[in-house]
Formats: sequence, C-alpha cells, structure tokens
Amino acid sequence: MKKAQVIIDKEYLVGDVDKRLYGSFIEHLGRAVYEGIYQPESPFADENGFRKDTLELVKELNVPIIRYPGGNFVSGFCWEDSVGPKEKRPARVDLAWHVIEINQFGLNEFSDWCKKAGSQVMMAVNLGTRGVEDARNLLEYCNFKGGTKYSDLRKEHGYEEPHNIKTWCLGNEMDGPWQMGHKTAEEYARLAHETGRVMKWLDPSIELVACGSSASGMPTFGSWEATLIDECYDTIDYVSMHQYYGNRDNDSANFLASNVDLDQFISNVVAICDYVKGKKHGKKNINISLDEWNVWYHSNEADEQLEKWGEHPHQLEDVYNFEDALLVGSMLITMLRHADRVKIGCLAQLVNVIAPIMTSDTGAWRQTIFYPYLHCSLYGQGTVLNTIVKCPIYVAKQHGDAPFLDCVVVNNEESEELTIFAVNKDLEEDMEVTLDLRQFSQYKIKEHIVMHDHDLKAVNTEENPNRIKPERNGKSEVSDGILTAEMKSKSWNVIRLGRN
Ligand code: AHR
Repeated sequence: MKKAQVIIDKEYLVGDVDKRLYGSFIEHLGRAVYEGIYQPESPFADENGFRKDTLELVKELNVPIIRYPGGNFVSGFCWEDSVGPKEKRPARVDLAWHVIEINQFGLNEFSDWCKKAGSQVMMAVNLGTRGVEDARNLLEYCNFKGGTKYSDLRKEHGYEEPHNIKTWCLGNEMDGPWQMGHKTAEEYARLAHETGRVMKWLDPSIELVACGSSASGMPTFGSWEATLIDECYDTIDYVSMHQYYGNRDNDSANFLASNVDLDQFISNVVAICDYVKGKKHGKKNINISLDEWNVWYHSNEADEQLEKWGEHPHQLEDVYNFEDALLVGSMLITMLRHADRVKIGCLAQLVNVIAPIMTSDTGAWRQTIFYPYLHCSLYGQGTVLNTIVKCPIYVAKQHGDAPFLDCVVVNNEESEELTIFAVNKDLEEDMEVTLDLRQFSQYKIKEHIVMHDHDLKAVNTEENPNRIKPERNGKSEVSDGILTAEMKSKSWNVIRLGRN
C-alpha cells in the first residue's frame, strides 16, 4: 500500500471559499432548457412548465449561481425575442449550434426558475453580433427600477420589480474562431471596456466578468489576457477561464492528471492579472471566474452526425463514467486550492448538456459527476487551509509529473467542521494517508464518504441510475491526534470531522 502525508496548520490559509465557486451553467443548447428545465407538457411540470424533478436535483446540489443564456449561443442572442407574450416571440436561427431557437423560455422565465432553484442569475451580454447599446438596454430591462423605455417594458411583461442581476459576463469566448463576432484581443478589449463602463454607469452595483481564454491550449493564451486586462483593468472585476478535458486516447492515468494542467492554467492567469496590476500601480486584484469547466468528449462523434436546424435536439449529451467523476473531483480540489483567486466557478453545464443531471420522459437522474460536485457544494464552505501533500508521483503522458493523491482541507469555523477532500488516482494500489489533527483535538470523524469502483467506465443510466453512487463506508480513524485514512485505489473521498 502506498503512503501519503497531508500537512495543515489552522492559521496557514489559502483563502475563503466564495459561495459562487459551485455555480453552474444553463445555455440555450440541446435539451438543457427545453426538456431539461422547462417542459410544460410533461407530467413532471409545475404551474410554470418547470420540471419539478429537475428542480429537486438542482436544489439538492445547492447551486449558488447559474450562468445564462450562453455560451456560444449568447453571441447571436437577441434578448428582446425572449421576452413578452410567448405567442408573439419569434423563432430564430441559432448559428452557434445550427438549430432553431423557439424562444418559448427566456430571461424572465429563467429568473423565475432560478428563484425556485434558490440560485442567482449570472447573465451574459452579446458582444459577438451586438455591442454597447444592446448591453445597456438589456441591463436597463433587468435592473432599472422603472420610468424608462426598457424598465417599463419589463413591467409591461409582468415583472414590476427589477431582477437585480449582480454578475454579468461581457460576451463569451471571444478569442475562439468558432465564435460569432470573433475578435482580436485588441478589438475585444476595447469593446469590453466600453461596454463595461456604460453598464457600470447604469448600475454601479454590478460585477463584470471579461472573457479570458477558451482553453489553456489556445494559441493566443497569455497575450490575450495581458492585452485585455491592460485595457479593462479599471472596469472589470474578473477574467474568465474555460477548460474541458477528455480521455480520447483511453489513457486513464494521463486523463486523471488533467488537473495538473488546470492548476498551471490558473497560476498563469493569476500571474498575468498581477503583472498588469503591478504595471499600473493598481490596488485591486482581478480575480478569476472559471465559468465553464468539466469533462467533455463522449458526445463529440454523435454531435458531428447531427442534422442541422432541429429544435432542441439531443446535443452534447455526454454519459459520464466513473473516471470522469474522479477527474471532476480533482478539478474541484484544484479550484479550492486556488480559492484566494478563483471566486466564481460554473460547472458546464447543469442539465442534459454535458451535465450532472439528465432527464427523459420518465424522470431525472444523477450522473456520476453529480456526486463530487454535490459534496464540495455542501461541505466545501469556509476557509481553505494550505494543504501540503507529500505523496508518490507518476509521470503522465501529456501532463508530466502528477501526484497520486489530490487533497485539500477546508475549515468551516462557523459550523466547526473540517472537511478533507481527496482523490487517490492510483489505478492499482490503495493508499494510507495520515494527517496530524492535534490542532483540532476536539474534532471527531462524522463520516468518510467514498466513491470507488473497479470499473472506471461504469456509468449511471436511465435504466440503472444508481450504478455509481457514494457510500459512507470509508475506513479512517483518529488516534493520538493523528488521522489515518485508507483511500482505495481509484477513489473519491470526503472525510468530515466536527466538534459535534
Ligand atoms: O458549454 C458548451 C460550449 O463550450 C459553450 O457554448 C462554449 O462557451 C464552449 O465552447
């Protein structure tokens, strides 16, 4: 059995976890909206046409904030088409996903749905085919109290009170050649700055996220951020990062090391933010909104075969296996280890489209990746402790040196709970992990949750929705102030300790 040591000190902190770290994303794409969260004809629909079964699972996940309406979709989005009487709303061609958008669910319905889900809205403006004026009008519609053209239009549509949306994205993936209205760094930086200024004049209480790179491997990565932040430093609050991974070569050891790349990506973006801050003699930090992250590759081939111009077809419907859940757990650990700078995270996406929740006509179920996301959202609140991990490493084909153990410890002083999240990536051997807990002498183990399976490719399906699920059967004990935990090979572990 391999051995690892985890070292913490309760005064040695990374930073507080922003609740928005466990956000998610709903795009008008595939069956995320239609059939996912909205399906008036379904027996599961409530009085608004929202699927109750989906809502229950979203509430279980405790999702703090949800990005909307895209994604690539937002770069062609005409928000006016998505509001007002449904029978008057036009269908539109969506050139991001080559489908027809029927506009029977729009931003007001999304705001209502988020209230029911207990989440905030994170709204994106279209900086692909549109610009300053439409962003201003949309913000006026959403956040202005009344007595003006667009705020009164909102009232006319039945929404007397403003939606008061606080977090706004200035476009989506503007560095990507696939994006409608794709721009150079200079073009986008100017537009983001000017749009952001106008938006903050209208509502100074909002926070703005500018588009960083669509992936660590983008050819413009680095120079894009430097140009952007140089121009927008005074206007924006966050720079976005997007990152998806896949196991296309079926090399599980390499795939499970993908968060080494994420870790480096985050560190590089932080370095660029701080370089510009230093150069400008600035006072504020630009922080990170990792507003798209996940595993995404299972559905790629099927999507290539899809016929164009359908209405909410099955698109990006990745069926996640057990190893995907392990990587999602490791990515969450990486995000937590950077909690001082990664303030917003959006698991992309939430329902049906590369999602933890799937629906069909017979109900909704949890994919494998649901669980690590759930555990972090519930128990990963408080302050991240600087977690030193001493463990053997391996060399991953693409990602180089990778620790066999990913681990982070979160201290919740308010609830007097300490939570250890860990992934043992060793495909063969179990691991004995020790941790000196003498600073938390009154704390006892409440539970040791484990997700483990011999079959990395096992999946949850409509027919067998509980094939992969967590158990509370981990072996760990505290003796003389030292925690000793057995972490099975290929496992996700959550050890919860508390005073009560
Ligand atoms: O989440 C799916 C897509 O991935 C989003 O629309 C886009 O922003 C990214 O490329």
